[in-house]
Amino acid sequence: MRRAEKLIVVPGGRGQLGHDLAALSADVRAMSSSDLDVTRVTAADLAGASAVINCAAYTAVDAAETDEDRAFAVNAVGPGLLAEACASLGIPLIHVSTDYVFAGDGTRPYEPSDPVGPKSAYGRTKLEGERRVLEAGGYVVRTAWVYGVHGSNFVKTMAALESSRPSLSVVDDQLGSPTWSHDLAAGLLQLASVRPEQRLLHATGAGEVTWFGFARAIFEELGADPARVQPCTTADFPRPAPRPAYSVLSGAAWAAAGLTPLPHWRSALSEAFKAGVVAPRTGAAPLE
Ligand SMILES: NC(=O)c1ccc[n+]([C@@H]2O[C@H](COP(=O)([O-])OP(=O)(O)OC[C@H]3O[C@@H](n4cnc5c(N)ncnc54)[C@H](OP(=O)(O)O)[C@@H]3O)[C@@H](O)[C@H]2O)c1
Repeated sequence: MRRAEKLIVVPGGRGQLGHDLAALSADVRAMSSSDLDVTRVTAADLAGASAVINCAAYTAVDAAETDEDRAFAVNAVGPGLLAEACASLGIPLIHVSTDYVFAGDGTRPYEPSDPVGPKSAYGRTKLEGERRVLEAGGYVVRTAWVYGVHGSNFVKTMAALESSRPSLSVVDDQLGSPTWSHDLAAGLLQLASVRPEQRLLHATGAGEVTWFGFARAIFEELGADPARVQPCTTADFPRPAPRPAYSVLSGAAWAAAGLTPLPHWRSALSEAFKAGVVAPRTGAAPLE
C-alpha cells in the first residue's frame, strides 16, 4: 500500500490519551484493541502509516501484581513488536511509558538518564517495553498522573466522591505532576513532527503536588469546599502494588529537544474542567 502523506496510527486509541490524540489531529487513526492487538502486531498491520504513537498498555497497576504475564505481553512484548515493525517500515515509533520505572525515592525531579528501579509488576513490564523500543531506535516518553475526558481517572473519582461523601482522606505523602491527556497528546504530536535526536524523554504537567493537594484543587474546580478533603498517609491505604512516593519527572530534556513544555498542572486542570472532564451535574443551573 502507498504511504499516505501523513497517517499516524495509534494503538490503544480508545484509551484516555488515544482519544485526545484523535481529537487533536485528523491525521490520527485511533485503533481499538480489537482492531489492532499489539501483542501480535506485524508490519503489515501498519501499512500506510507515516508514524505510530503507542497508547496501548496494561494500566491496571494493582491487577498487574497477580497478572504479570498478561501485563508483560501488552507492556513489553507489544511495544517490542511495534518497534521492530516500525524499524522495518522506516517510520518513527513514539511509545508512552511511566514514572513507575523509577524507585520513587528521589528528592529532585527525575531526568531521563537517572537510574531506574521499578517496585511494581506494572513498572517492571513498562521498563522492559522501554528497553525494547529504545533498542530498535524508537522514542520513549515517560509521563505520570494522567487524566482526561475519556476513561476513568483520579479527577472523576474525586468528583464522584465529592457528590457522595461529606469528607474524604487523600494521601499527602506521594508527590507528582498531574498531566492532562490533551496537553500530553499535543506534545506527542509535536514530537512526531520535530523528531529530535534524544530518544528518551519526560513529559508531564509542570509543577508538582501531592494527591491530597490535587484533590483539593479538584474540589475548588467543582465549587466545593476544599477543606472537606483531609490529608492521610500511604500507610493508611495499603494497596497491592507499591506507589512511588516521589514521581516528579524533569521536563528539561524535553525543552532542550526543542519541544514545548506542557502547561502547569493547575492551569491545565482548569482547562480540563472547561473541556468537560467532569460532566455537569443534572439539575445544576444551566451555564450562561
Ligand atoms: N493513566 C496514567 O495515569 C498513566 C501514568 C503514566 C503513564 N501512563 C501511560 O500512558 C499511556 C496511555 O495511558 P492511558 O491512561 O490512556 O491508558 P488507558 O486509558 O488505560 O488506555 C489503554 C488502552 O490500551 C488498550 N489495550 C490494552 N491491551 C491492548 C492490546 N493488547 N492491544 C492494543 N490495545 C490494548 C486498551 O484497550 P481495551 O480497553 O480495549 O483493552 C485501552 O484502550 C500508557 O502507556 C500508560 O502506561 C499512564
